[in-house]
Amino acid sequence: MKPQLSPRLAWELKLALRYKIGFIGTGNLAQAMIKGLIENKVVEPTQIYGCNRSPGKLQKTVETFRINSCSNAEDLIETCDIVVLAMKPQDLPGAIDPLAASFNENQIVISLAAGITLRMLEKKLSQTRIIRLMPNTPSLISRGVIGYVANDDDSSLEAIIEDMFNPLGYVLKVEDEDQFEALTVSCSSGTGFVFELMMYWQDWIEERGFPPDVARKMTVETFLGASLLASQSNQSSLEDLLAKVTSKKGITAAGLQSMRELEIERALRYSFEKAALRNQELAKDT
Ligand SMILES: NC(=O)c1ccc[n+]([C@@H]2O[C@H](COP(=O)([O-])OP(=O)(O)OC[C@H]3O[C@@H](n4cnc5c(N)ncnc54)[C@H](OP(=O)(O)O)[C@@H]3O)[C@@H](O)[C@H]2O)c1
Repeated sequence: MKPQLSPRLAWELKLALRYKIGFIGTGNLAQAMIKGLIENKVVEPTQIYGCNRSPGKLQKTVETFRINSCSNAEDLIETCDIVVLAMKPQDLPGAIDPLAASFNENQIVISLAAGITLRMLEKKLSQTRIIRLMPNTPSLISRGVIGYVANDDDSSLEAIIEDMFNPLGYVLKVEDEDQFEALTVSCSSGTGFVFELMMYWQDWIEERGFPPDVARKMTVETFLGASLLASQSNQSSLEDLLAKVTSKKGITAAGLQSMRELEIERALRYSFEKAALRNQELAKDT
């Protein structure tokens, strides 16, 4: 068990919300997170710091969001209470290994790097609290699923993470790396799987004579409508909702029967497992 946040720091972090957050790497995801934090007034731009390998992206981020710029990661680590590792997984060891000793025990480190496990991060940064966090791309429009796993059960830490990421969507803490993998596959890769299904939908509609833009709209609205209906009927199971659109020997029933004969569920499960295996391979490679 890591030492608890000191009462003073916990107070500063949670109640005064005056903590300083630093992003090492100001690429796509970091910018989306910074936007969410500022637009939703979780923190002021003056509480956010950034550094980036190439100066152009940092300059653009600083100009767009009016955050503070650090000339290097070491300065950022020295300044910030929360450090977000927002580089690609293959860049993480090179960025962090030389600076590991610069982190202190009250700091919170949030890693966004896919495939780098909590245990691997703990080996590098044994003195800090570490969060592994996985947002999916709908976080860009505040409809994400943001899962995290922590190396510490401190409830003040959980409160901080929820405060920070609620503006980006549904935040949930998972229990271990296995669950983290399930969340990565089903929600992050899952967003891609849903797009693939939507492409099949649109193609079929177009083959029936609709122009692409109309077919796209019909597809998107069908997925959106079904999702919103499910979201707003949370007393009903998905089976109940399906039963409501399926009458015996009707049109939907005929289509569903065929989907079951073709074992669509088995094909999807197989794809999920393949994605999970790839996640494990990436972890080994890194
Ligand atoms: N995008 C998503 O939807 C998504 C979803 C879930 C998780 N993730 C994870 O989030 C992380 C970031 O993804 P991204 O899409 O935002 O990537 P990205 O746009 O490529 O951003 C990464 C940034 O890190 C910078 N960088 C690399 N090494 C650095 C170093 N040593 N010091 C400082 N900055 C450094 C890069 O600088 P340069 O300008 O030199 O390239 C780049 O701007 C990845 O680990 C990814 O696995 C992304």
